[in-house]
Amino acid sequence: MTATSKQILVFDRIVRSTHWLIAVGIVATWFTRHARGAWHEWLGYGVAAVLLLRLLWGLIGSRHARFADFMQSPLATIRYARKWWAGTAPRFLGHNPLGGWMIVTIWTTLAVVLVTGYLFTTDRWFGIEWVIETHAISTWVLLGLIPIHVIGVLLASYRDREHLILAMIHGRKPEVIDGQTDPSGTSAIKPR
Ligand code: HEM
Ligand code: HEM
Repeated sequence: MTATSKQILVFDRIVRSTHWLIAVGIVATWFTRHARGAWHEWLGYGVAAVLLLRLLWGLIGSRHARFADFMQSPLATIRYARKWWAGTAPRFLGHNPLGGWMIVTIWTTLAVVLVTGYLFTTDRWFGIEWVIETHAISTWVLLGLIPIHVIGVLLASYRDREHLILAMIHGRKPEVIDGQTDPSGTSAIKPR
């Protein structure tokens, strides 16, 4: 039987809104890639602005928004993955260490897409084959990472018996599930 406790706020408004804005922005930028006018570029600049805000928030934001909260060393992440596989991994209120690396990989790939897209609009880099090729290839890598990310979210939701998609919408998670809480202790963040 699954015993869950009260719901507490884990992901603040900036984490949630930047997540969905980046997701929608990537889809919109993709669909305008051959559109007439500068829609593609302007949507891309919008995504870049939201990404910059989210990265800044990773330094100064609320507890589970911070890199320091969800980034662990590669060794600790491998240890976590082994435990996850064996079904003995501790529960994390914020992103778990595997999720943390996935998130940073997505952000880094997105940054490559954005920078190469921008470079291609400048006099210095326009028309250079490898620039637009890197833009296209990094886009494909990004489009490959997204379904892996969503599958990871669904698997983690199933394994940890919590609804992560809802958590990314309203920001709350059960404080304790089956007696398991965050290894670093629990506390709700201040509403923002
Ligand atoms: C273009 C599409 C997407 C991108 C680039 C993306 C990227 C990300 C990133 C970077 C994070 C970390 C959030 C943060 O701390 O700011 C994240 C978390 C999350 N994403 Fe997405 N995402 C995408 C689509 C989706 C979709 C379609 C879903 C749901 C079906 C989803 C569900 C989630 C959830 C539940 C989390 C929190 C996971 C956790 O608790 O560790 N994402 N995503
Ligand atoms: C989420 C962000 C973005 C995605 C997913 C994306 C994706 C793509 C893709 C798939 C192409 C087609 C490449 C090809 O024809 O081989 C493209 C073309 C291009 N992108 Fe982006 N892009 C993004 C952001 C940007 C940004 C920020 C800029 C510039 C400010 C930009 C500028 C361009 C330009 C100039 C082209 C060439 C258009 C053409 O062939 O007429 N992109 N982009």
